[in-house]
Amino acid sequence: MSILVTGAAGFIGSNFVLDWFEHNNESVISLDKLTYAGNLENLQSLQKDPRHIFIKGDIGDQALVSSILKEHQPRAVINFAAESHVDRSILGPQDFIETNIVGTYNLLESIRAYWVDLDEKSKENFRLVHISTDEVYGSLEINEPAFTETHAYEPNSPYSASKAASDHLVRAWHHTFGLPVITTNCSNNYGPYHFPEKLIPLCILNALAGEPLPIYGDGQQIRDWLYVKDHCAAIRAVLEKGRLGETYNVGGWNEMANLDVVKLLCIILDELKPRSDGLKYSDQIIYVKDRPGHDRRYAIDATKISKELGWKPKETFETGIRKTLQWYLDHQDWVNHVQSGEYKNWLTKQYQ
Ligand code: NAD
Ligand code: DAU
Repeated sequence: MSILVTGAAGFIGSNFVLDWFEHNNESVISLDKLTYAGNLENLQSLQKDPRHIFIKGDIGDQALVSSILKEHQPRAVINFAAESHVDRSILGPQDFIETNIVGTYNLLESIRAYWVDLDEKSKENFRLVHISTDEVYGSLEINEPAFTETHAYEPNSPYSASKAASDHLVRAWHHTFGLPVITTNCSNNYGPYHFPEKLIPLCILNALAGEPLPIYGDGQQIRDWLYVKDHCAAIRAVLEKGRLGETYNVGGWNEMANLDVVKLLCIILDELKPRSDGLKYSDQIIYVKDRPGHDRRYAIDATKISKELGWKPKETFETGIRKTLQWYLDHQDWVNHVQSGEYKNWLTKQYQ
């Protein structure tokens, strides 16, 4: 038995693969295009592990994905592969359309062709878990209730629109072709191996380097933060017990304004690694131009997954961010390689 994980060298994908082997021995085939966001160093500890195979490739390459499915006969596909950064989608939406929409379509077609030919039992047991985001629901006013699974899709950025489109395709392939799919819509993750273009890792690395901590606009935009390992546990629960054709919201019940996130991060860093000049890390906070079309608030109502599948986050923001900060302090090599771009040479160095 094996599972295929796409986008496995990215932030959540790599955490998922590492977390998977902490819980069972079933093999994983990792597929990743290794865009700028894909970092094989994240999976370095599995390099000699016979349970793990890494394949460099695009979810949009039907010939490749079909041959992988045929050869390895996975019982499930977990689709993390995507362009994921909102700011990049504003600067250049093309890659988001290619991967998140066209790529998902091609992946669905490859999986459908594989799935229809499976024997009845394997067909029944097969799952595609599609990993999506709370951003598809749009933005909430401060007094509005958190997003439930029935909230209308109102995406506002090229990124969230492309993810919404991919969710619709996945839904349609279930409804029309009977493909056994489940979609998860998760809030903001943080934790180890997070690429330093996103708020939390960017601020950690900038703080330690004595650089400014850039807050967009007034910093009062609210996100619901979830420690990445809690997200991984939710996905495992959905894979094993989730109902076909359903969507599950995943969140940390942890709403915080961006400014408060960065201030707390600074306070913990002051404790773990005080600045040599005696000043506070929060002195590095600066306010910069806001993100165009910036969504004001996201909040996830995770009642359904909690009631149906018994999943609850283990970490509070305080405990999760402490672990995260300690991880970055303990993994200076990873940080150096990402910052210098050397991580891109990893594949050549290790596998030539
Ligand atoms: P990431 O950008 O860190 O990783 C994405 C990975 O996908 C990278 O390794 C990249 O190389 C790979 N990839 C990109 N295009 C590909 C393609 N065409 N074929 C194969 N691989 C490709 O993203 P992430 O933060 O780990 O997010 C993973 C998934 O979870 C995404 O679908 C994202 O929308 C979703 N999500 C992320 C968050 C979050 O807070 N990061 C929250 C909710 C949902
Ligand atoms: O909600 C889930 C989403 O969370 C995922 O679907 C996305 O893939 C993921 O990137 C993340 O999107 P956000 O835009 O919320 O994450 P980001 O870390 O880019 O920004 C978090 C908040 O911080 C957001 O309100 C913008 C703000 N911000 C971000 C950066 C990079 C700043 O104030 N300054 C910054 O420099």
